[in-house]
Amino acid sequence: MTPSPAEISRAVAVLRAGGLVAFPTETVYGLGADASRPDAVRRVFTVKGRPADHPVIVHLGDAGALGEWAAEVPPAAELLTSQCWPGPLTVVVRRAAHVPDEVTGGLETVGLRVPDQPVALALLREFATEGAGGIAAPSANRFGRVSPTTAGDVRADLGAEVDLVLDGGECRVGVESTIVDCTGDEPAILRLGGLSRERIEDLLGHPVPVRRGGNGAADVRAPGTLVSHYAPSAQVLLVDLASVSRVAEDALARGLTVGVIGEKLPGDLPPGAAVLARPEDDADYARHLYRHLRAADAADLDTVLAVVPAEVGIGAAVADRLRRAAGQGT
Ligand code: TXA
Ligand code: MG
Repeated sequence: MTPSPAEISRAVAVLRAGGLVAFPTETVYGLGADASRPDAVRRVFTVKGRPADHPVIVHLGDAGALGEWAAEVPPAAELLTSQCWPGPLTVVVRRAAHVPDEVTGGLETVGLRVPDQPVALALLREFATEGAGGIAAPSANRFGRVSPTTAGDVRADLGAEVDLVLDGGECRVGVESTIVDCTGDEPAILRLGGLSRERIEDLLGHPVPVRRGGNGAADVRAPGTLVSHYAPSAQVLLVDLASVSRVAEDALARGLTVGVIGEKLPGDLPPGAAVLARPEDDADYARHLYRHLRAADAADLDTVLAVVPAEVGIGAAVADRLRRAAGQGT
């Protein structure tokens, strides 16, 4: 399954020629282009169907390259990246002069991340041996769709429009990176994700606010903050453990097809409700969340009842994505 060194070299050649390579990261699959080539980055937007003023993250093979992409590295960014890279953390910093507008959506800032995934690191490190060597990559899904966590998801969603898909198996984390804006006086979390808020606050030694976007967050322009993002076609309803059986019965009584996701589901669920998943813990919930939402659509379910985990650790990111899937992002 793991791509051979020859395949990695082929992917590097595709990127150098301005092509698009989908690659695994520990969070979700990315749709990569040479971050120094505006034409290649524009193609990413076309293939995704994403508005051109939305910034994309630049992926690097080594934390040492941070200073090549940032105009300045604030102490918080230095601290977090030295401790958490490679890992599911994106820092937003002021961009270096050479970073194209196509990457930043015209902003004066750039999002940077070193992913913790062997195929991604092999690709990024070989790509960085010539030139600036950053790979601009949003998640490898069409705009507004659920992020891909396997190579098969990428092919199903983007198909022939990607020049090469590197298969690194299933993503280990399953939800996107945590984004920390380090450009202000105090750092702020722009998107909850694979790195917990608790860990970030521990490292920085003070509380870090979550700056929630919601629709119309023009100052942030993070599509991950649109309330309707990450939504499957099925209607997602957020429920708690105490009410899930009753809500399932009501929905079935109205003639709807119903799927349920949740840790420790009760024994009295009505037999007509399909159990999509019983994650064994919050990490398992995160890892397979998007797969479950895809499965709900594949089964053509009308309604998905999702039991929201406690909002600690990675559970906070799961709760965030569930809320957005339910159209209730805040
Ligand atoms: O885990 C991840 O972050 C995955 C993998 C592929 O690395 N990538 C990902 O990319 O989720 P994307 O494009 O789907 O989401 C990136 C988010 C967007 O919401 C974007 O607006 C935000 O990062 N972002 C990027 N640069 C930014 C900047 N300069 N200022 C504010 N937000 C930024
Ligand atoms: Mg995305």
